[in-house]
Amino acid sequence: MKKGKIVSGMRPTGKIHLGHLHGALLNWKKLQEKYNCFYFIADWHALTSEYAHPDIIRESTYDIIIDWISVGLDPELSTFFIQSEIKEHAELYLIFSMITPLPWLERNPTYKEQLSELSQKNVYTYGFLGYPVLQAADILMYKANGVPVGEDQAPHVELTREIARRFNHLYQEVFPVPDVLLTPTSKLLGIDRRKMSKSYGNSIFLTDTDEKIDAKVAQMITDPQRARKTDPGDPTICNVFSFHEIYSDNEATETIRSECPSARIGCVDCKRKMASALKIGLEPIRAKRKELESDTEGVKEIMAEGNKKSRAIARQTMEEVREAVKI
Ligand code: TRP
Ligand code: SF4
Repeated sequence: MKKGKIVSGMRPTGKIHLGHLHGALLNWKKLQEKYNCFYFIADWHALTSEYAHPDIIRESTYDIIIDWISVGLDPELSTFFIQSEIKEHAELYLIFSMITPLPWLERNPTYKEQLSELSQKNVYTYGFLGYPVLQAADILMYKANGVPVGEDQAPHVELTREIARRFNHLYQEVFPVPDVLLTPTSKLLGIDRRKMSKSYGNSIFLTDTDEKIDAKVAQMITDPQRARKTDPGDPTICNVFSFHEIYSDNEATETIRSECPSARIGCVDCKRKMASALKIGLEPIRAKRKELESDTEGVKEIMAEGNKKSRAIARQTMEEVREAVKI
């Protein structure tokens, strides 16, 4: 018997990269064994920042779903849905917006950070400020007990908890107060050693070809102190080594751990080994992706079923909500 409900979502604003895989998806995969999981495409959330060029949202939605299934998220174990297909989210969002004090939104650290980070896009909008209120609707609609998110999203889930408490207090006990299930951040950095992020152009995508992977790995910044092959290196601060720790076998990893600090292995060689292990590691994901790409109808069916199941729960919750609010 599964223990409780988990809800988490992803914004469809581009392709899935290794940061998503190791930062979120493999954790989602683990959770589906124990919990009743709802994973969804947050396309309305994507619209808060991509409203001027929304094509990317539609383009990446099915790409992401295919990636989810390819990495082992299992529609037999978890429920997938697309946020905008469940219109009840919009209604719950509206009701929550009535009871959410503005200062809760304005003081949100993630909000402030993103305002400055996304400065090239105009996100000084009503919708963007209300982003966490929509997120609360996503989570509480399914009466989640836990929400797996990275550190940057924790303040949003805290807000969800406050909104749940406030609703229950004002009207009736409808919502459980969900726990934040903090996902450790991925140790894999981008090829420039910054956090892997599409907007930095430093990502390795699940869909990259062998040639792309080779080229990107060749560009990776290693231990910055190691300028020449004869300089000793420090694997513990090297991003290439972090990849080895995940994708190479123990023996190969230990060899590098001992040879790098005494300059017995060079970075070019080390990277070549890593690229080869990475390609082997990604192979099953690619094979599955290929299979799914030739079965778009099958994928659409999975989504139609997930949407239907989610919609039924959303309807039920909204009945309770309307009854509680008496409107
Ligand atoms: N804001 C999340 C992100 O950017 C996506 C998201 C939307 C989400 N609704 C959610 C995550 C509900 C967890 C639960 O990653
Ligand atoms: Fe990094 Fe490998 Fe070079 Fe050492 S040899 S600095 S682990 S790339």
